[in-house]
Amino acid sequence: MSEPGFLDLVRKILLLPEQASTIAPQVDALHYAVIGTTMLGATAVAAVTIWRMFRWARARDDEPTPRLRSGPWLMVAKIGGPLTLFLAFWLLGFRQYVVLHKPPEGSFDVYVTAKQWMWKFAYPSGPTSVSTLTVPVGRPVRLVMTSRDVIHSFYVAEFRVKQDVLPGRFTTAWFEVTKPGVYEILCAEYCGTSHSGMRGSVVALSEGDFAKWLERQGPQGATGVEDVEGAVVAAKPGNMAVHGADVARRNQCLACHTLDGQRHIGPSFRGLYLSSVPLEDGRTVLADEAYLSRSMMEPAVDVHRGFAPVMPSFRGVLAAPDVAALIEYIKSLRFAAPEPGVALPEVQPKVRDAGLDVEIPPYAPGLGPAAGAVDAKEGSQ
Ligand code: CUA
Repeated sequence: MSEPGFLDLVRKILLLPEQASTIAPQVDALHYAVIGTTMLGATAVAAVTIWRMFRWARARDDEPTPRLRSGPWLMVAKIGGPLTLFLAFWLLGFRQYVVLHKPPEGSFDVYVTAKQWMWKFAYPSGPTSVSTLTVPVGRPVRLVMTSRDVIHSFYVAEFRVKQDVLPGRFTTAWFEVTKPGVYEILCAEYCGTSHSGMRGSVVALSEGDFAKWLERQGPQGATGVEDVEGAVVAAKPGNMAVHGADVARRNQCLACHTLDGQRHIGPSFRGLYLSSVPLEDGRTVLADEAYLSRSMMEPAVDVHRGFAPVMPSFRGVLAAPDVAALIEYIKSLRFAAPEPGVALPEVQPKVRDAGLDVEIPPYAPGLGPAAGAVDAKEGSQ
């Protein structure tokens, strides 16, 4: 993306790194506006102060100090001007905050696990990596992140993206890289002795190179994104959903949660992901990654209405990669086809805004929620 020459000069004067994501120019523009306005204001105040110093230094000793009076309109301008600017900055900043928390449709999901002192990445189609996050250019990438120990913060300066990573819950961040290249990942939250060494890199490849890279990641990578529909993923070894099915079996999840949409001791996994869940206290939440992981760690907090609060906590039992795999498994069952010979009730995909006419694609590893679903999420938090 070519930047206007003047703004590029301002960026260099402010010692900001290059802009390599779609949000970076917007974040910088707000930065310039705030810096520029405060600099102008400070310069004006300094100029008036200096002028007055010289003006009154020349006054005779018997000259009385005049009383300075402000008319009502001057008062309004003095208070209203800065207030308006402050509100404008706040509004612009809030808009960017909303954009930063709303991954666009069709984002590519990557699970991130932070621990002292490294970054681990897992791709829903199977591959995993340590320290190196490989992503496509020109496509939104959503990170679903959690920590195995203390609070860390995922930060890539060139993307202007910084998001805390917390133990026991999932936070998300997204970016769309605009230039192929290698960008440094920093941890931006002090997390112990080697905090400063907790680095990694984002390798941004063109869409074509990325597809080739994903394919090279062993046989599991070859499951790809396009050839998977509904529960067919279960037939492909190596991807996270398959691992998640294994985690569910080993941890007795299926003793209480069915896979076929029937209610049992707990809600069925089928059709659960991104459905709206009515809670005991009357609220409704969206069953996204954050809700699903919180339900495993703190099941008593947001209990699904109509179910007894009998689920034990899996804090300390399920490791972060297992939680991520379970979530991918539940995602894969969002519109799962019934097993041969089993008659099932129709699963109604419940995107919260029921009036929305959103076309919902079948599950594919690596694909984030549809835009409508994410819109709805904004309102639920
Ligand atoms: Cu992890 Cu600082």
